[in-house]
Amino acid sequence: MRNTILSLLTLTAITLSSCSQKLHFKKEVNQAEKQTTLMLQEIAKANNKNGTLVSPRTLEDGKLKLVASTDWTSGFFPGELWCLYELTKNEKWKQQAIKFTAPIEQEKLNGKTHDMGFKVYCSFGNAYRLNKNQHDKAVVIQAARTLSTRFSPKVGAIRSWDHNSDKWDFPVIIDNMLNLELLFEATKLSGDSSFYKIAVAHANTTMKNHFRKDFSTWHVVDYDPETGAVEKKNTHQGYSDASAWARGQAWAIYGYTMCYRETKDPKYLLQAQNIAKFLFNNRNMPSDLVPYWDFDAPNIPDEPRDASAAALISSALFELSTYTEEKNDYLEKAEKILYSLSTSYTSPIGANRGFILLHSTGSKPHNSEVDEPLSYADYYYLEALTRSNRLRNNQPVIQ
Ligand code: GLY
Repeated sequence: MRNTILSLLTLTAITLSSCSQKLHFKKEVNQAEKQTTLMLQEIAKANNKNGTLVSPRTLEDGKLKLVASTDWTSGFFPGELWCLYELTKNEKWKQQAIKFTAPIEQEKLNGKTHDMGFKVYCSFGNAYRLNKNQHDKAVVIQAARTLSTRFSPKVGAIRSWDHNSDKWDFPVIIDNMLNLELLFEATKLSGDSSFYKIAVAHANTTMKNHFRKDFSTWHVVDYDPETGAVEKKNTHQGYSDASAWARGQAWAIYGYTMCYRETKDPKYLLQAQNIAKFLFNNRNMPSDLVPYWDFDAPNIPDEPRDASAAALISSALFELSTYTEEKNDYLEKAEKILYSLSTSYTSPIGANRGFILLHSTGSKPHNSEVDEPLSYADYYYLEALTRSNRLRNNQPVIQ
């Protein structure tokens, strides 16, 4: 009898403690809607340089920083609006999403950057997914065509940056994995398999050269464009060339999970699982699972966090949880990160010019956007919420 009572008490305690870690969901969506309503007012008030600045990126000295469509972050705010529309089915978010998506269109012809997926897929990709408008579909396909011009068959990868040409000949950064989603989608929309082939070649080259034995990733790998040989392995935004920059690890797990979805090649699944092992076995991963900006930053625990990396990892893990037998572990971690973000990293309603999350780090070595809100943290947080909501409603995690 005594044993039965003890077991019941233990069970209740376990259930309560896991309940206390659960999202309220409505509360999180309500906070996001209120903050985004404020953000729309702040955008209207901000100095917009004759309408050339189209999306919010961060706060600088407490002021809203808007960016032009050319900036790598310009697609995230339209993407947030599409997420809010999906989460609430409220037409007002759809109208705002259409309005903020439109100015990104010119990027479909901008071949000077690899950031096409961030810009065009988060905006027009979501627009087409939710609205099935033929114009949006054509924009996605054209963007993929332009991005493909940066692919070198010799290197087997898409060139990331054109800047710092004194330092790098053909730099490829781990972040670039995210742009492959646009290419996979463009093949499905157009029937042109060349986009798919480029995406697979890039994922394979990156898998071969970007990862260390422990499945942490370098940030930048520089190639000889004539021979395709690796010339250097560096960082740009991490603590050191040899360190594990938190957002880089997040781009990696998200990228290979997505590549497995698109190809069903088991090596990508294994890669994502190994990156997860690196993340969660790391002694510097905090107990709330919101990483410091670099896993090897010298003054941990007195280092800034990066909520954007946490949001990305959470979103990736929701998807990964559906592909593997380790399902419960990934799902639990995805939920735990989302719970941490929504309880300890959200802005109070009415503050921070309408950003949803606080405490992200853009580039610590450049002393830029340190412990600030960032639009991409908000985007991947809303995406993670959307994925969590689909799973709890027994829907496919990716739609
Ligand atoms: N893709 C740029 C960054 O993660 O900061």
